[in-house]
Amino acid sequence: MKRVFSGVQPSGMIHLGNYSAMQNFVKLQEDSNNDCFYCIVDLHSVTVPQDPKVLYENSLELAALYIAIGLDPKKVTLFLQSQVPAHTELAWLLQCNSYMGELNRMTQFKDKSQKMTSVTTGLYTYPILMAADILAYDTNYVPVGDDQKQHLELTRDIALRFNNKFGNTFTVPEGIYPKVGARIMSLDDPTTKMSKSNPNEFSKIGLLETDAKIKKSIMRATTDSDSEIRLDWENKPGVSNLLTLYSVFGNISIKELEEKYKGQGYGNLKKDLVQVIINYIKPIKERYNELRGSDELKEILKEGAMRANEISSDVVKRVKDKMGFVQF
Ligand code: AMP
Ligand code: TRP
Repeated sequence: MKRVFSGVQPSGMIHLGNYSAMQNFVKLQEDSNNDCFYCIVDLHSVTVPQDPKVLYENSLELAALYIAIGLDPKKVTLFLQSQVPAHTELAWLLQCNSYMGELNRMTQFKDKSQKMTSVTTGLYTYPILMAADILAYDTNYVPVGDDQKQHLELTRDIALRFNNKFGNTFTVPEGIYPKVGARIMSLDDPTTKMSKSNPNEFSKIGLLETDAKIKKSIMRATTDSDSEIRLDWENKPGVSNLLTLYSVFGNISIKELEEKYKGQGYGNLKKDLVQVIINYIKPIKERYNELRGSDELKEILKEGAMRANEISSDVVKRVKDKMGFVQF
């Protein structure tokens, strides 16, 4: 069996960029050789201020969305990070086996912290908690978007270093990235990634968005002055982003799209893309609405946490043994 682990933060509505990475979550569950763990990483969310009521609602919203996009709780383990103590315990042990120099190099921390007036120590050590999430399950594969590459490299470095120092302890994980759509860009500024934290509501499209909002966001998306439709991230990032979205959600290659829209302006491309996205997310929204208020959801999370606890507490025991802690 191969172990698969990934996590998404419950800090706002899942957008098309997240979803692009999450399509791989669903693909990986279909291989019966994979044992998949998908986590709602609520402890990562509180590295920046959260309204408690909103965090609570967002956590359940994300759980329902995990299932609505096609994850089957009978095949995969779905759970809340804060329900499984191994994550924070291992994070501490790893903090004492990693270096400030390593964290200082993390570009996500630099980007986020630059925009803030006060920065929590949790935001700084966030990548170590992520490493603990992954290493606590002897994970082989981590499906994520491109933006997490650096965090995953750090996780591998920490695992290898620990293994060298204390003897073989951790499985060294590998990232799995989407072939197309590993980085979906903002609709208003296609040189920055689509992000939950962007305050411009037209910069992103959430999975539960209304049809009218989807239309408005795509129609006003930034393009460029010439009207040629081709993939060229350097000179035409806006159009390249729209083509990528179309390819991911319309299940059609970018080459085919370039052929299809040859000689046409951006208007047609945008109009069709609106329809492609609306059609794609319609069944997801319907399934979400059935699940959101149900008791079933909390049951699934409870069972998921129990299974996650079993696996990860064994790994933490192993780590503590290696480091010389007395255990009974
Ligand atoms: P987060 O919302 O930061 O918890 O991210 C959840 C997942 O979505 C991770 O695998 C990220 O790598 C992925 N992701 C976030 N933003 C984007 C984006 N703009 N394009 C592609 N993947 C993304
Ligand atoms: N840091 C990831 C993000 O912002 C979320 C995350 C936390 C994660 N722990 C993880 C992803 C473990 C994969 C594996 O997207």
